[in-house]
Amino acid sequence: MTLYLDRTEHASTRPPRPFPQGFLLGAATAAYQIEGAAFEDGRTASIWDAFSRVPGAVINGDTGDVACDHYHRYRDDVALMKELGLDTYRFSTSWSRVRPDGGPVNRTGLDFYERLVDELNAAGIVPWLTLYHWDLPQALEERGGWTARETADRFAEYALDVHDALGDRVQNWTTLNEPWCSSFLSYTAGIHAPGRMSVTDGVLAAHHLMLGHGQVVRELRARDASLSLGITLNLTVAEPVDPSAPADLDAARRIDGQFNRWFLDSIFRGEYPADVVDDIRAVAPDAIDALDAATRAGDLATISQHIDALGVNYYHGEFVGAEPDPHPPLPTEAPTDRATRSPFPSVEGIHWHDRGLERTSMHWEVQPEGLTRLLGRVWTEYAQPAGTVLYVTENGAAFDDVAVEEDGEVRVHDARRTEFLRGHLGAILDAVEAGVDVRGYFYWSLLDNYEWAWGYEKRFGIVHVDYATMRRSLKDSAKEYRRVIAAREIDVVAGRANVKTAQE
Ligand code: FCB
Repeated sequence: MTLYLDRTEHASTRPPRPFPQGFLLGAATAAYQIEGAAFEDGRTASIWDAFSRVPGAVINGDTGDVACDHYHRYRDDVALMKELGLDTYRFSTSWSRVRPDGGPVNRTGLDFYERLVDELNAAGIVPWLTLYHWDLPQALEERGGWTARETADRFAEYALDVHDALGDRVQNWTTLNEPWCSSFLSYTAGIHAPGRMSVTDGVLAAHHLMLGHGQVVRELRARDASLSLGITLNLTVAEPVDPSAPADLDAARRIDGQFNRWFLDSIFRGEYPADVVDDIRAVAPDAIDALDAATRAGDLATISQHIDALGVNYYHGEFVGAEPDPHPPLPTEAPTDRATRSPFPSVEGIHWHDRGLERTSMHWEVQPEGLTRLLGRVWTEYAQPAGTVLYVTENGAAFDDVAVEEDGEVRVHDARRTEFLRGHLGAILDAVEAGVDVRGYFYWSLLDNYEWAWGYEKRFGIVHVDYATMRRSLKDSAKEYRRVIAAREIDVVAGRANVKTAQE
């Protein structure tokens, strides 16, 4: 009899665990992080082109000007995806390429995405298109950005242009990637572009992003009822340090509310959570007044349009309490020189604690079983009642990879990433076995790429990129993923790991 061991070292006699029929295994990227060609063929600046040039905003002053040069190398990159056996590829279109400055459509820019999608379809890889992965045209930011209602209308126009070109070839459409990041992290914390630091701006940006999402869902649905339409949220599992301490429970409630429920409730319930509104009002009454003034009748109905698919991005949980940790975890934001503040409006009295879990080089905890619980909760409380299915549209890890030359090849023995990947796939299978309808998984990321305020310092790829030569090389994790995709099963009871492991 074969014994299968999981990371918690409990022997199990369970056989390999197959993925459900039709489960999609893929990888994700985003336009600004990989394309480069920032000012070619009519593309003009996005907020990330501008922000990355602000002194001290990004580590090393790195920009996406060249990134992975995917714009010129997309054919090779699709060939690489095919070599890995990916079922699907999640990418985003660049608004600044399709509608430079938010103005009229740029045919040359759109052509790039036609070529990419044709290449994917020819390779038998399902294109999974995200319309907005944070790269607002800078000209629109100068007219108010997401704090202006007009931006939602411009977003809908841009989406229709992309649909005009690709509607016959792309089935899966995601409106926004992680609106929490493009609102609170960007307009309240100042950590991401455009780098504003205002609670009011964050709340307004979130409202208009969600309004834009709803408008696009409505328009695309009206055009073609057969499309699969959705949004991707970054979600977390917020846990109290002491579940019997009311103050710790309240800290967890506030993080869950501001991070998860602000978006989930508006999409699935057509309302902003009352407790979070009260929390924000207590610290920034003007922000809630501004939200009330900006919200027109029907907005929440637009935001809560039915969606077919909810994309869940999961990286780590939050372990919070009302008292400071004597040995607090290292900060997870990039140590840039520019001033920033918390993305959470109601953060007073909330402290992050270390619970001894393994951490990635982003100082993010590795907690695969959190994904099982997250999927279960989102399914039961939101998706299932709405008839929406789930996909894990991002999950991945940065580690301090070491690239070595062996037998004329570049190799990266990234055992921890491989373990991370397997652990999270196992965690998804745990959720599936518990009855959660998860239909696919996208590892973040296919390639090492531009990691926002961290520049090129953090590597998430299963494919190593040598930025000097642009050479791509499969890391060990990519080879393992290829094996798993071909086998359509994983051969360990993974996903229950919750132990500290030795650093590599
Ligand atoms: C997510 C982003 C993605 C990437 C990963 C690491 O929040 O959507 O672009 O930066 O984190």
